[in-house]
Amino acid sequence: VLDVESLREAAAAVLPPEAVEYYNHGGFDELTLADNEEAWKRWAIIPRMLAGVAHRDLATTVLGRAWPHPVFISPTARHGLADPDGEIATAKAAAATDTVFCVSVGASKEPAEIAAAVPGVPRWLQICLFADRSASAELADLAEACGYEALVITVDNPIVGVRRHASVGIAASFASASPPLPGLPRRPDHERLQLDPAATWDDLEKFIGASSLPVLVKGLMSPDDARIAGQCGAAGVVVSNHGGRQLDRAPASADALPAMVDAVGNSIEVLVDGGIRSALDVFTALALGARAVGLGRPALWALAAGGAGGVEDLLRTMVSELDTILALSGAGRVARIDRSFVRPRTSGEQ
Ligand SMILES: Cc1cc2nc3c(=O)[nH]c(=O)nc-3n(C[C@H](O)[C@H](O)[C@H](O)COP(=O)(O)O)c2cc1C
Repeated sequence: VLDVESLREAAAAVLPPEAVEYYNHGGFDELTLADNEEAWKRWAIIPRMLAGVAHRDLATTVLGRAWPHPVFISPTARHGLADPDGEIATAKAAAATDTVFCVSVGASKEPAEIAAAVPGVPRWLQICLFADRSASAELADLAEACGYEALVITVDNPIVGVRRHASVGIAASFASASPPLPGLPRRPDHERLQLDPAATWDDLEKFIGASSLPVLVKGLMSPDDARIAGQCGAAGVVVSNHGGRQLDRAPASADALPAMVDAVGNSIEVLVDGGIRSALDVFTALALGARAVGLGRPALWALAAGGAGGVEDLLRTMVSELDTILALSGAGRVARIDRSFVRPRTSGEQ
């Protein structure tokens, strides 16, 4: 049985306190952080019976690539705090389960190093529109040269949000003058990776126009923004509030998702992350229209608690429980999940 709460506790028991603060906390009062987890549970799943579910199929297609299951690893910085092999360990787990791993620009390992160490991992690279736009362009070129299949441009961080937990703020700033968290070398290019509060949709459109890789825009909460991202040439969007680390009181991802799916229809792909803690959450996200569903903190906790094997267990268990839910819900196939399988839970229902 998948028990992400136990992974959270196991990680807290082995990580240094600064790392627990960095991984677990969020922005301001952390209302969005908490709501991200709660909101998926506000949907009931309506099962259909006698649906012929002996043969189940978890496969889907994202950006034209066949995926064996609809779960991916969202970009989180600094896996080196959890495991000495950092993102290389995570990449091994992703490769073993054919899971797309979106590597963060704030990774403890270089994108090229990860690709060379685990060439079999299906991979995306997350970057930002940095103030030095040539730094972003160079990272995009590097991504393509190293076999990254897509770029994820994170746009919900014009500046670093308010984090009451000091180390969260320190580590969130790529170019911080403060000492980095223990045991982590600073990447040599960090000084060039300054966030750019002046960036606009025009900049994004220009960037996408120059990119030969498909681009996903991550960190949107508004249906209008989802539409604009499509007009700028994005292949898709990731509905996300940065795991509650940026603007507190932003809607939970589950609450933002349906209107964003409706806004773009089939024109671009809509992915989601934030508060996904079980295969039931994954099913609900798919029912609300997400094409794929990202894990942030659970992968970090699993990495801290059990290394590459821990992340592999997390992914395998998530996928096998999703298979069970396909049977119990009567959906049978991921491709058949739609909104008819969910409705808002009325108060009083457990
Ligand atoms: C420790 C940590 C570091 C993160 N670093 C990044 C990052 O470098 N780039 C990015 O786009 N999102 C980053 N995120 C946000 C995640 O991509 C994702 O949106 C979020 O973690 C999903 O929520 P969850 O942790 O509840 O699953 C980070 C999140 C955490 C918890």
